[in-house]
Amino acid sequence: MQVSPSILASDLTRLDKVFGSMDMSLVDYIHIDVMDGHFVPPITFGESYTQMVKNLLGEFHPQPGLDVHLMVESPDKEVPKYFSIKPSILTFHAETTHFPLRLASEIRKQGIRAGISLNPATPLESVENILDSLDLVLLMSVEPGYYGQPFISSVWDKLEKLADWKKKYPHLTIEVDGGVDDKNIEKLSRLGADIVVAGSYIFKAQDINERIRTLKKYS
Ligand code: DX5
Ligand code: ZN
Repeated sequence: MQVSPSILASDLTRLDKVFGSMDMSLVDYIHIDVMDGHFVPPITFGESYTQMVKNLLGEFHPQPGLDVHLMVESPDKEVPKYFSIKPSILTFHAETTHFPLRLASEIRKQGIRAGISLNPATPLESVENILDSLDLVLLMSVEPGYYGQPFISSVWDKLEKLADWKKKYPHLTIEVDGGVDDKNIEKLSRLGADIVVAGSYIFKAQDINERIRTLKKYS
């Protein structure tokens, strides 16, 4: 299991300290939740803060990749702002664009993996016909907007179905985001999640690395 800790749930004023306390050899990605106050109520951070995170990570070896999750109303405008930062993954929401193919192809042209995210109420079928043009599907297991919310169990059916479709599209990565913890990680792994995002489970703990290790041990 690959783990993408969501820094939204960490002490954002002391990210240097937060990163310093993490065993980066355990961390596959750093998850960045970009929120614009329109698609979701809160405003978090944008491309400047994301660049700063990338700079901070430059001091670490091994260096985890950036997993940027855009929760913004106009991804067509916002996506290009992240090209020069070169994240490993750049994900936009299916609910926010009529042109997912074009957006994914622009992201891929930059050598960045293109992800699409689905809110809990958005059916998997909305991306069924475009899976070969995507690198990753991010299934939301909470409504986007806040960390610390309980896991929504309707994601189980979606995960099972997507894992089944993946047999036809083996290049696809399945990521699950929201409410991930030690109670659901075994099933997430068993049903086919490749990457899990975890915010409060990791950062609201005394021992961050022990929490990451717990999530990683399932495969
Ligand atoms: C929710 C965000 C998630 C969130 C995860 O809108 O996309 O990445 O920060 O936090 P937890 O793991 O606490 O649900
Ligand atoms: Zn997220």
